[in-house]
Amino acid sequence: MSDKSQQDHRSVGVAVLGHGTVGSEVLRLIGEYSEDLTHRIGGTLDIKGVAVSDLEKHKDSPAAHLMTTDAMSLIERDDVDIVVEVIGGIDYPRQLVLAALNAGKSVITANKALVAAHSAELDDAADRAGVDLYYEAAVAAAIPVIGPLRRSLAGDRVVAVKGIVNGTTNFILDAMDSTGASYDDMLAEATRLGYAEADPTADVEGHDAASKAAILASLAFHTRVTADDVYCEGISKITADDINAAKKAGQTIKLLAICERNGDKVSARVHPTLIPREHPLASVSQSFNAIFVEAEAAGRLMFYGNGAGGAPTASAVLGDLVGAARNKVHGGRAPGASTYANLEIADFGEVETRYHVDMDVDDQLGVLARIADQFSGAGISLRTVRQEEKGDNARLIVVTHHAPERDLAGVVEKLKAMDEVKSVNSVIRLESE
Ligand code: NDP
Ligand code: HSE
Repeated sequence: MSDKSQQDHRSVGVAVLGHGTVGSEVLRLIGEYSEDLTHRIGGTLDIKGVAVSDLEKHKDSPAAHLMTTDAMSLIERDDVDIVVEVIGGIDYPRQLVLAALNAGKSVITANKALVAAHSAELDDAADRAGVDLYYEAAVAAAIPVIGPLRRSLAGDRVVAVKGIVNGTTNFILDAMDSTGASYDDMLAEATRLGYAEADPTADVEGHDAASKAAILASLAFHTRVTADDVYCEGISKITADDINAAKKAGQTIKLLAICERNGDKVSARVHPTLIPREHPLASVSQSFNAIFVEAEAAGRLMFYGNGAGGAPTASAVLGDLVGAARNKVHGGRAPGASTYANLEIADFGEVETRYHVDMDVDDQLGVLARIADQFSGAGISLRTVRQEEKGDNARLIVVTHHAPERDLAGVVEKLKAMDEVKSVNSVIRLESE
């Protein structure tokens, strides 16, 4: 592009908050693709500043001259039109994002924890100011799934969104399954590769996936769903023994997010899930994510790709940035999130699924029958029962048909109280095709 046509373009001032795994890649790609981005936007992206917490750490960065530790002052600059928030956390970025929106600046964020906790407040601020609030990168990094839910499926009725939405836990579970690697080693490796959150507890305890489930459920069901509405169980209790037992049974364990509409109620949950090896989600390896969206008219759609990492996440941030910049140059605004349906959030106890209950029991006549009675007494039908020798005891693995969470939890309490049951080792939910 000639200098002349560059000058004819309107400049769009951008503040980038954060220069870590994602922020540094956002800046790199803006530099590398600048000419193409100018054509696509009809204006030039002009980086006005980059906020970090420690200037010394970045003193050799090519962007060092743009850096500041005062993110708020950067946002307040008159020449900043768009703010990209890639710091992470909730309270401080909330202040920054609200300040930006209230000042009439569009915001792009990759921060699922923030969006899942404060979407109502953020949407209201964006609406009042008539600016864009985009967060494609917040769910499944590079995979475009927010856009399709918000736009492409706006005319359909979505009934379910299910899948693998956390790269770190998929990386750990996949390595434990395929190479027998240890949980701790793989968590350290996921952190080194930039997949894990600053505090990886959010990944392994399922909170990161729960935030993403809340965002997906809100958009899919046109209902405000927050992270607090999502049942959440992480992978920290999954043992090598669970993985090997799953393998023997032709299954694998994945951390799934499952959002469903059932009549006028919606539910969202995150938990380790046993799936058969032939299930399409079973082959999703490393830090990849995959999400199925099921809509009444469209049928089943699958979204697959890089679910974590600097460049994949920056790609999604840049897509949003181009959209927001175009709107700054040409006018207009992306549609905001719609929550008109306001469906009831189902109590988790009502949610029905299948269960795999692994216990150590006395190896004596009649024990199996007494255990089966506990399930049938709660109206839970058994699909398979498998018994293996385990020292002086027996290992009993019971797989149920669909039953409500409340009923299964009641049975587990009764099993734990039985003298014949030495331990309930694990309760893992099952999904089949
Ligand atoms: P990093 O921890 O790598 O980077 C965070 C950046 O924020 C750092 O540059 C840090 O500064 C800066 N920062 C921290 N506190 C402040 C502060 N008070 N003022 C100014 N700057 C500050 O995080 P990521 O890049 O991995 O993640 C950023 C966001 O993107 C998070 O919300 C995360 O959930 C989300 N995300 C991350 C993905 C990934 O794969 N990593 C994928 C999808 C979303 P300094 O460098 O000086 O320490
Ligand atoms: N920590 C997140 C993950 C980053 O592992 O999926 C992507 O959102």
